[in-house]
Amino acid sequence: MEADADLVARLEEKERQLERYATDLRETFKAERKRAQELRASYMATVRALANAVEARDAYTGRHAERVAAYGLELAHAGDVPLARDQQTEFGFLLHDVGKVAVPDAILFKPGPLTAEERVLMEQHPVIGWEILRGIDFLGDAKLVVRHHHERWDGAGYPDGLTGDEIPVAARVFAIADALDALTTDRPYRPAGSFTQARKVIEAGSGSQFCPASVQALGRVSDARFEELRAA
Ligand SMILES: [Fe+2]
Repeated sequence: MEADADLVARLEEKERQLERYATDLRETFKAERKRAQELRASYMATVRALANAVEARDAYTGRHAERVAAYGLELAHAGDVPLARDQQTEFGFLLHDVGKVAVPDAILFKPGPLTAEERVLMEQHPVIGWEILRGIDFLGDAKLVVRHHHERWDGAGYPDGLTGDEIPVAARVFAIADALDALTTDRPYRPAGSFTQARKVIEAGSGSQFCPASVQALGRVSDARFEELRAA
């Protein structure tokens, strides 16, 4: 009997010990999750600060990065949900034009068409952006959006002249969001068009400038939704 009581006492102690371990594990897990959330938030704050530093120079396009990122994420949701959920996608969208910090004002804000030499300088911004971000480890695939956001489906884009599927999928989706924003924003040389008009232009470029699957995703997002994102 005494041996039984002893066994029961030992088992109870073991059970309490296991409960303590479980509690410790839960606490550790909660603390880890909080740290991961904090890290995620500080990554996002850093990305936003960098993107805003570029935006601050340009009164015309004001809030372009945030808006185009919202359009791009909406398109990603409509076409490739895992892509939309990957934080790298949003980072890349927000930072796409970071390399414009190196483009002189006289070129960046020139109201008329650029000369051949000015165009060469302007077209360096994806590579400059990629170089600026190269050493930042938490920006993984985001850097690919920065480098490849001016590639074209037919290979006539820059900087690397990639073709079709060689172009990272986030960069292909982004190219459409960027065009959509450009076409629906006032420019010194022309007024803004409507989303319906912009859609027609982009659809006409399916398979030449733009990835056909991403253009199809555009077809699944309504003008009203884009209006809503623009007003946000
Ligand atoms: Fe760009």
